Amino acid sequence: MDRIFITGANRGIGLELVRQYLGEDTSRIFATARQPQAAGELQALVAAHPGRLTLIPLEVTDEAAIAQAAQTVAGQVEALDILINNAAMNPPEDTQTLDGISVETMLRTLHVNTAAPLMIVKELLNWLRNGHNPRIINISSEMGSLAERTYGADYAYCASKAALNMVTRGLAADLRRDKITVIALDPGWVQTDMGSPEADLTPQESAHGIRAVAESLTLAQTGQFLRWDGQQNPW
Ligand SMILES: NC(=O)c1ccc[n+]([C@@H]2O[C@H](COP(=O)([O-])OP(=O)(O)OC[C@H]3O[C@@H](n4cnc5c(N)ncnc54)[C@H](OP(=O)(O)O)[C@@H]3O)[C@@H](O)[C@H]2O)c1
Repeated sequence: MDRIFITGANRGIGLELVRQYLGEDTSRIFATARQPQAAGELQALVAAHPGRLTLIPLEVTDEAAIAQAAQTVAGQVEALDILINNAAMNPPEDTQTLDGISVETMLRTLHVNTAAPLMIVKELLNWLRNGHNPRIINISSEMGSLAERTYGADYAYCASKAALNMVTRGLAADLRRDKITVIALDPGWVQTDMGSPEADLTPQESAHGIRAVAESLTLAQTGQFLRWDGQQNPW
Protein backbone atom coordinates (compact mmCIF):
# COMPACT_ATOMS: atom_id res chain seq x y z
CA MET A 1 0.00 0.00 0.00
CA ASP A 2 1.38 3.42 -0.96
CA ARG A 3 0.63 6.31 1.36
CA ILE A 4 0.70 9.42 -0.79
CA PHE A 5 0.64 13.15 -0.05
CA ILE A 6 -0.27 15.46 -2.98
CA THR A 7 -0.42 19.26 -2.84
CA GLY A 8 -2.65 21.42 -5.03
CA ALA A 9 -5.09 18.58 -5.59
CA ASN A 10 -8.37 20.46 -6.15
CA ARG A 11 -7.84 20.89 -9.91
CA GLY A 12 -5.54 20.16 -12.82
CA ILE A 13 -2.83 17.52 -12.64
CA GLY A 14 -3.12 17.18 -8.84
CA LEU A 15 -6.82 16.30 -8.99
CA GLU A 16 -6.21 13.76 -11.77
CA LEU A 17 -3.39 12.15 -9.77
CA VAL A 18 -5.78 11.71 -6.83
CA ARG A 19 -8.43 10.16 -9.13
CA GLN A 20 -5.97 7.72 -10.65
CA TYR A 21 -4.37 6.74 -7.32
CA LEU A 22 -7.84 6.04 -5.92
CA GLY A 23 -8.30 3.64 -8.83
CA GLU A 24 -5.51 1.53 -7.32
CA ASP A 25 -7.42 0.01 -4.47
CA THR A 26 -4.47 -0.12 -2.10
CA SER A 27 -3.39 3.51 -1.95
CA ARG A 28 -4.07 5.88 0.97
CA ILE A 29 -4.10 9.50 -0.08
CA PHE A 30 -3.71 12.89 1.59
CA ALA A 31 -4.79 15.62 -0.82
CA THR A 32 -4.39 19.30 -0.08
CA ALA A 33 -6.41 22.28 -1.25
CA ARG A 34 -6.40 25.92 -0.21
CA GLN A 35 -10.17 25.87 0.20
CA PRO A 36 -11.42 22.33 0.83
CA GLN A 37 -14.99 23.61 1.24
CA ALA A 38 -14.87 24.81 -2.39
CA ALA A 39 -13.17 21.65 -3.71
CA GLY A 40 -16.35 19.88 -4.85
CA GLU A 41 -14.66 17.19 -6.95
CA LEU A 42 -12.31 16.23 -4.12
CA GLN A 43 -15.18 16.14 -1.63
CA ALA A 44 -17.10 13.79 -3.92
CA LEU A 45 -14.04 11.52 -4.11
CA VAL A 46 -13.77 11.49 -0.29
CA ALA A 47 -17.41 10.39 -0.09
CA ALA A 48 -16.97 7.74 -2.81
CA HIS A 49 -13.85 6.22 -1.21
CA PRO A 50 -14.41 6.06 2.54
CA GLY A 51 -11.20 5.88 4.57
CA ARG A 52 -8.96 6.22 1.51
CA LEU A 53 -8.73 9.97 1.00
CA THR A 54 -8.12 12.72 3.53
CA LEU A 55 -8.66 16.30 2.43
CA ILE A 56 -6.28 18.76 4.09
CA PRO A 57 -6.52 22.57 3.98
CA LEU A 58 -3.18 23.97 2.84
CA GLU A 59 -2.05 27.32 1.53
CA VAL A 60 1.53 26.23 0.87
CA THR A 61 3.11 29.50 2.03
CA ASP A 62 1.46 29.16 5.46
CA GLU A 63 4.03 27.39 7.64
CA ALA A 64 1.57 26.84 10.51
CA ALA A 65 -0.77 25.13 8.03
CA ILE A 66 2.08 22.89 6.81
CA ALA A 67 2.78 21.87 10.42
CA GLN A 68 -0.93 21.22 10.95
CA ALA A 69 -1.01 19.09 7.79
CA ALA A 70 1.87 17.01 9.14
CA GLN A 71 -0.08 16.50 12.37
CA THR A 72 -3.07 15.27 10.38
CA VAL A 73 -0.84 12.75 8.59
CA ALA A 74 0.69 11.67 11.91
CA GLY A 75 -2.75 11.00 13.35
CA GLN A 76 -3.72 8.67 10.52
CA VAL A 77 -0.68 6.77 9.18
CA GLU A 78 2.71 5.66 10.47
CA ALA A 79 4.58 6.64 7.33
CA LEU A 80 4.41 8.25 3.90
CA ASP A 81 5.78 6.55 0.78
CA ILE A 82 5.29 9.29 -1.82
CA LEU A 83 5.20 13.09 -1.55
CA ILE A 84 4.19 14.92 -4.71
CA ASN A 85 4.90 18.64 -4.45
CA ASN A 86 2.50 19.63 -7.20
CA ALA A 87 0.95 22.98 -6.16
CA ALA A 88 2.37 25.93 -8.05
CA MET A 89 1.49 29.28 -9.61
CA ASN A 90 2.33 30.88 -12.93
CA PRO A 91 1.53 34.61 -12.73
CA PRO A 92 -0.16 36.36 -15.69
CA GLU A 93 2.16 36.71 -18.69
CA ASP A 94 2.15 40.51 -18.69
CA THR A 95 3.45 40.55 -15.10
CA GLN A 96 6.45 38.42 -16.12
CA THR A 97 7.82 40.33 -19.13
CA LEU A 98 10.94 42.46 -18.78
CA ASP A 99 8.66 45.53 -18.64
CA GLY A 100 6.10 44.01 -16.30
CA ILE A 101 8.13 42.03 -13.79
CA SER A 102 8.26 43.25 -10.18
CA VAL A 103 10.03 42.17 -7.01
CA GLU A 104 6.63 41.21 -5.57
CA THR A 105 5.85 38.85 -8.46
CA MET A 106 9.32 37.30 -8.31
CA LEU A 107 9.22 36.73 -4.54
CA ARG A 108 5.64 35.44 -4.32
CA THR A 109 6.33 32.94 -7.13
CA LEU A 110 9.59 31.81 -5.53
CA HIS A 111 7.77 31.40 -2.22
CA VAL A 112 4.97 29.24 -3.65
CA ASN A 113 6.96 27.23 -6.23
CA THR A 114 10.35 26.85 -4.54
CA ALA A 115 10.45 27.61 -0.79
CA ALA A 116 7.11 25.98 0.04
CA PRO A 117 7.97 22.53 -1.41
CA LEU A 118 11.18 22.57 0.65
CA MET A 119 9.28 23.48 3.85
CA ILE A 120 6.76 20.73 3.14
CA VAL A 121 9.60 18.20 2.82
CA LYS A 122 11.03 19.38 6.15
CA GLU A 123 7.72 18.88 7.96
CA LEU A 124 6.95 15.48 6.42
CA LEU A 125 10.47 14.10 6.60
CA ASN A 126 9.97 11.89 9.65
CA TRP A 127 7.03 10.14 7.99
CA LEU A 128 8.94 9.71 4.74
CA ARG A 129 11.90 8.21 6.61
CA ASN A 130 9.59 5.41 7.77
CA GLY A 131 8.11 4.89 4.32
CA HIS A 132 8.48 2.00 1.89
CA ASN A 133 10.89 3.04 -0.92
CA PRO A 134 10.18 6.69 0.01
CA ARG A 135 10.03 9.08 -2.92
CA ILE A 136 9.73 12.85 -3.21
CA ILE A 137 8.55 14.12 -6.60
CA ASN A 138 8.91 17.85 -7.10
CA ILE A 139 6.75 18.81 -10.05
CA SER A 140 9.00 21.08 -12.07
CA SER A 141 8.75 22.18 -15.70
CA GLU A 142 10.72 22.26 -18.92
CA MET A 143 10.57 26.03 -18.27
CA GLY A 144 12.91 25.40 -15.32
CA SER A 145 15.63 24.08 -17.63
CA LEU A 146 18.63 26.39 -18.06
CA ALA A 147 19.63 24.46 -21.19
CA GLU A 148 16.24 25.09 -22.86
CA ARG A 149 16.11 28.78 -21.87
CA THR A 150 16.66 30.38 -25.28
CA TYR A 151 13.55 32.60 -25.02
CA GLY A 152 12.72 35.65 -22.90
CA ALA A 153 9.96 36.69 -20.46
CA ASP A 154 8.31 34.34 -17.93
CA TYR A 155 10.95 35.48 -15.42
CA ALA A 156 9.22 34.49 -12.20
CA TYR A 157 7.94 31.06 -13.22
CA CYS A 158 11.12 29.95 -15.01
CA ALA A 159 13.36 31.11 -12.15
CA SER A 160 11.17 29.43 -9.55
CA LYS A 161 11.26 26.06 -11.33
CA ALA A 162 15.03 26.29 -11.99
CA ALA A 163 15.43 26.99 -8.27
CA LEU A 164 13.14 24.05 -7.45
CA ASN A 165 15.46 21.89 -9.55
CA MET A 166 18.38 23.10 -7.43
CA VAL A 167 16.41 22.38 -4.22
CA THR A 168 15.80 18.89 -5.61
CA ARG A 169 19.53 18.30 -6.11
CA GLY A 170 20.28 19.42 -2.55
CA LEU A 171 17.54 17.25 -1.09
CA ALA A 172 18.72 14.26 -3.12
CA ALA A 173 22.19 14.62 -1.61
CA ASP A 174 20.95 15.25 1.93
CA LEU A 175 18.38 12.44 1.94
CA ARG A 176 20.41 9.72 0.21
CA ARG A 177 21.52 8.53 3.64
CA ASP A 178 17.83 8.08 4.55
CA LYS A 179 17.28 6.15 1.29
CA ILE A 180 14.73 8.75 0.19
CA THR A 181 14.68 9.26 -3.59
CA VAL A 182 14.13 12.85 -4.71
CA ILE A 183 13.52 13.90 -8.31
CA ALA A 184 12.32 16.90 -10.29
CA LEU A 185 9.64 15.91 -12.80
CA ASP A 186 8.39 17.78 -15.86
CA PRO A 187 4.73 16.77 -16.37
CA GLY A 188 4.71 17.90 -20.02
CA TRP A 189 2.51 20.62 -21.51
CA VAL A 190 -0.87 19.73 -20.07
CA GLN A 191 -4.48 20.85 -20.71
CA THR A 192 -5.16 22.51 -17.36
CA ASP A 193 -5.92 26.07 -16.27
CA MET A 194 -2.15 26.64 -16.25
CA GLY A 195 -1.37 24.80 -19.47
CA SER A 196 -4.34 26.01 -21.63
CA PRO A 197 -6.67 23.89 -23.80
CA GLU A 198 -4.11 23.94 -26.66
CA ALA A 199 -1.58 21.93 -24.66
CA ASP A 200 -0.16 18.59 -25.90
CA LEU A 201 -1.35 16.26 -23.15
CA THR A 202 -4.55 15.59 -21.26
CA PRO A 203 -4.29 15.59 -17.47
CA GLN A 204 -5.06 11.85 -17.70
CA GLU A 205 -2.01 11.19 -19.91
CA SER A 206 0.29 13.32 -17.79
CA ALA A 207 -0.89 11.84 -14.47
CA HIS A 208 -0.60 8.33 -15.90
CA GLY A 209 3.01 9.05 -16.84
CA ILE A 210 3.82 10.63 -13.48
CA ARG A 211 2.41 7.57 -11.67
CA ALA A 212 4.46 5.23 -13.87
CA VAL A 213 7.64 7.20 -13.13
CA ALA A 214 6.82 7.19 -9.39
CA GLU A 215 6.12 3.46 -9.45
CA SER A 216 9.46 2.53 -11.01
CA LEU A 217 11.59 5.05 -9.11
CA THR A 218 14.55 3.80 -7.08
CA LEU A 219 17.41 5.43 -5.18
CA ALA A 220 19.60 4.92 -8.29
CA GLN A 221 17.65 7.78 -9.93
CA THR A 222 17.81 10.24 -7.07
CA GLY A 223 18.68 13.79 -8.11
CA GLN A 224 17.48 13.34 -11.70
CA PHE A 225 15.28 15.67 -13.76
CA LEU A 226 12.82 13.37 -15.52
CA ARG A 227 9.90 13.92 -17.85
CA TRP A 228 6.40 12.50 -17.49
CA ASP A 229 7.37 9.76 -19.99
CA GLY A 230 10.42 8.73 -17.96
CA GLN A 231 12.97 10.37 -20.30
CA GLN A 232 15.75 12.58 -18.91
CA ASN A 233 15.25 16.33 -19.14
CA PRO A 234 18.27 18.54 -19.86
CA TRP A 235 19.17 20.70 -16.85
N1 LIG B 1 -0.06 22.47 -17.10
C1 LIG B 1 1.15 22.48 -17.66
O1 LIG B 1 1.28 22.55 -18.90
C2 LIG B 1 2.38 22.38 -16.81
C3 LIG B 1 3.62 22.35 -17.47
C4 LIG B 1 4.78 22.22 -16.70
C5 LIG B 1 4.68 22.13 -15.33
N2 LIG B 1 3.44 22.19 -14.71
C6 LIG B 1 3.41 22.06 -13.25
O2 LIG B 1 2.49 21.05 -12.89
C7 LIG B 1 1.94 21.33 -11.60
C8 LIG B 1 0.42 21.31 -11.67
O3 LIG B 1 0.03 22.28 -12.62
P1 LIG B 1 -1.45 22.35 -13.22
O4 LIG B 1 -1.30 22.51 -14.67
O5 LIG B 1 -2.30 21.28 -12.67
O6 LIG B 1 -1.89 23.78 -12.63
P2 LIG B 1 -3.33 24.36 -12.18
O7 LIG B 1 -4.42 23.68 -12.89
O8 LIG B 1 -3.16 25.83 -12.31
O9 LIG B 1 -3.40 23.95 -10.62
C9 LIG B 1 -2.51 24.50 -9.72
C10 LIG B 1 -2.78 23.93 -8.35
O10 LIG B 1 -1.86 24.54 -7.43
C11 LIG B 1 -2.59 25.13 -6.38
N3 LIG B 1 -1.92 26.29 -5.82
C12 LIG B 1 -1.47 27.40 -6.44
N4 LIG B 1 -0.96 28.27 -5.55
C13 LIG B 1 -1.09 27.69 -4.33
C14 LIG B 1 -0.78 28.10 -3.01
N5 LIG B 1 -0.21 29.28 -2.75
N6 LIG B 1 -1.06 27.25 -1.99
C15 LIG B 1 -1.65 26.06 -2.24
N7 LIG B 1 -1.98 25.62 -3.45
C16 LIG B 1 -1.71 26.44 -4.49
C17 LIG B 1 -3.92 25.53 -7.01
O11 LIG B 1 -4.88 25.77 -6.00
P3 LIG B 1 -6.06 26.90 -6.19
O12 LIG B 1 -7.12 26.23 -7.00
O13 LIG B 1 -6.45 27.22 -4.79
O14 LIG B 1 -5.43 28.06 -6.91
C18 LIG B 1 -4.19 24.29 -7.85
O15 LIG B 1 -4.68 23.25 -7.04
C19 LIG B 1 2.51 22.69 -11.20
O16 LIG B 1 3.66 22.48 -10.39
C20 LIG B 1 2.94 23.30 -12.53
O17 LIG B 1 3.95 24.28 -12.39
C21 LIG B 1 2.30 22.31 -15.43
